Amino acid sequence: MAKDGEKGEWKEFIWNPRTREFLGRTASSWGLILLFYLIFYIFLAGLFAITMYVMLQTLDDHKPTWQDRLSTPGMVIKPTADETFEIVYNVKHTESWDSYAQALDKFLSPYNDSIQAQKNHECTPDQYFRQEDSGDVKNNPKRSCQFNRTILEDCSGIHDRYYGYQEGKPCIIIKMNRVIGMLPGKDGQAPYVTCGAKREDSDKIGQLAYFPPNGTFNLMYYPYYGKKAQVNYSQPLVAIKFLNITTNEDVNIECKINANNIPDGSERDKFAGRVSFRLRINFNNN
Ligand SMILES: *[C@@H]1O[C@H](CO)[C@@H](O)[C@H](O)[C@H]1NC(C)=O
Ligand SMILES: *[C@@H]1O[C@H](CO)[C@@H](O)[C@H](O)[C@H]1NC(C)=O
Ligand SMILES: *[C@@H]1O[C@H](CO)[C@@H](O)[C@H](O)[C@H]1NC(C)=O
Ligand SMILES: *[C@@H]1O[C@H](CO)[C@@H](O)[C@H](O)[C@H]1NC(C)=O
Ligand SMILES: *[C@@H]1O[C@H](CO)[C@@H](O)[C@H](O)[C@H]1NC(C)=O
Repeated sequence: MAKDGEKGEWKEFIWNPRTREFLGRTASSWGLILLFYLIFYIFLAGLFAITMYVMLQTLDDHKPTWQDRLSTPGMVIKPTADETFEIVYNVKHTESWDSYAQALDKFLSPYNDSIQAQKNHECTPDQYFRQEDSGDVKNNPKRSCQFNRTILEDCSGIHDRYYGYQEGKPCIIIKMNRVIGMLPGKDGQAPYVTCGAKREDSDKIGQLAYFPPNGTFNLMYYPYYGKKAQVNYSQPLVAIKFLNITTNEDVNIECKINANNIPDGSERDKFAGRVSFRLRINFNNN
């Protein structure tokens, strides 16, 4: 009997015909609860949408809102494979240096004069090429300056298609990483690259030749406005040719960017603005 009573209580809890309550609440009570949650969730969705909208309004399509305050740009050398920072080959073994020449060919092909003439603008050298927006009116797309492959002369791969590797006078090419808005150099003086041997190797490095002359990055390639605003931008390059480097020995070399407003590598990043690599040219029949 007790069991039956319990069952009856349960039934009554689910649907109580006397009070017309379902699960202990009347229809109007349930209605109010559902209405409350409906309004609550609509309100939350609205809040989310408004927040997103405001956030997106503050983003500029052409410029990152947040950018690392990188005062010293990184440098990259070619033709080393990524992350290896060494060039080791034997002059007598074509297959040991052919891949370096091919890597340079590939890297330089977008700099072919004909391609540059087609894509880019002939700028006035030795001054910044500013293309600012006027207020909210975007001055896009922005033009970019020509960097002709022939500027690299003996390291352009045009007259000497093996870039000196076949005669133990190899070329390496240096590129400075892009930093949006950076204005390197000061008082009309362009930043330039210098390379030297680490102390113990200083008598092995021999004479160097820089292309373009003095290893400068012309001011006209700055400032850079970002990938979206300046679609055809060609990063300027500096080539270094080792004219009389000691063979059959390791030579540790460091190249750095000199600009009177780019500080030397700070504590935070000792390698900013400089790049080190090992060069070893073997000259034997082994
Ligand atoms: C660039 O020029 C070199 C030599 O002048 C040529 O061999 C190469 O095919 C050219 N590359 C492109 C992408 O036009
Ligand atoms: C680059 O080469 C093209 C084609 O030869 C030439 O018309 C242009 O003047 C050169 N640009 C610069 C900056 O030397
Ligand atoms: C970018 O290069 C293309 C050709 O490849 C050219 O048609 C276009 O006008 C260039 N854009 C700018 C902004 O210079
Ligand atoms: C290279 O530097 C020297 C000395 O700093 C200067 O006299 C010469 O004009 C520079 N050459 C070029 C092409 O900038
Ligand atoms: C090349 O370097 C060697 C020393 O490593 C030196 O004796 C020689 O005179 C140099 N040659 C030239 C042309 O500078």
